[in-house]
Amino acid sequence: MGNTALVTGASSGIGSELAKLHAAQGGDLVLVARREEALNKLKSELENAHNIKATVITADLAQPDSAEKIFAATEAASIQIDILINNAGFGGHGKFHEQDLAKYQAMMQVNIVSLVNLTHLYLQGMVSRNSGKILHVASTAGFLPGPLQAVYFATKAFVVSFSQAIAQELADTNVTSTALCPGAVATGFVQAGNLEGNSMWDNAASPESVAKCGYEAMMKGELVKINEPSLSFMLNWVIPFLPRKTVLKMSQKTMEKSN
Ligand SMILES: NC(=O)c1ccc[n+]([C@@H]2O[C@H](COP(=O)([O-])OP(=O)(O)OC[C@H]3O[C@@H](n4cnc5c(N)ncnc54)[C@H](OP(=O)(O)O)[C@@H]3O)[C@@H](O)[C@H]2O)c1
Repeated sequence: MGNTALVTGASSGIGSELAKLHAAQGGDLVLVARREEALNKLKSELENAHNIKATVITADLAQPDSAEKIFAATEAASIQIDILINNAGFGGHGKFHEQDLAKYQAMMQVNIVSLVNLTHLYLQGMVSRNSGKILHVASTAGFLPGPLQAVYFATKAFVVSFSQAIAQELADTNVTSTALCPGAVATGFVQAGNLEGNSMWDNAASPESVAKCGYEAMMKGELVKINEPSLSFMLNWVIPFLPRKTVLKMSQKTMEKSN
């Protein structure tokens, strides 16, 4: 099997750490995001440290044709993608009806549509080679509705569902699909999503630890990976048995800001 991973959202946070882990294993990379300078810096750092090849593709995944353009660029460069890491994503805070709809349209495009498009484009080759891995960076937000982050939580529910369903469809192949579901992680996500002042991120996990957890789960072909055991217990064994209205109130409380 080849060993080239395409990582979306590689310019910071969890995606950048996933790229570092893959390079440390000697794997080549295709690094995708909007911030070209950050991607080029990572490319140089990883090529020098690990003697690998990294290719930078700048793309705005909020654009409807971005996945096709990324695919065309890797095809034109004859780069076979053996591992697809759909990591790029962002959230937002506030009551749905009070927010700008364009922000949510972009969020759905990045978190859902481009993820589906990239998966469809690269999965065909993986299945025909009977080899490949896909990691979807979802979230614990995918396990319940999220008042004050209604669209973000719903996008992640989509990803958790989609990743598992295609994993089952691929069960008789050597291609796997893994959903990584982190709780709070200390990254640029907080600022990008206007989430400063939310106590959920007071004890957030490091992007390094979350990336390691996700990368290992992907390599093992695990179905769903929640990075923290206590969260996994809550989401799988407590919340499903509580009344829906109780869950909604609890969920809204965790999304409220202290200031
Ligand atoms: N941090 C958390 O608490 C947390 C918890 C659970 C799940 N997650 C998920 O983890 C993933 C990574 O987020 P992170 O925490 O590492 O946050 P981050 O540091 O803000 O990274 C987000 C990445 O997504 C990229 N991105 C955002 N919008 C994009 C667009 N329109 N086109 C292309 N790339 C775009 C960003 O790159 P550019 O800005 O350069 O385009 C950046 O590399 C996301 O899917 C997020 O939902 C995060």
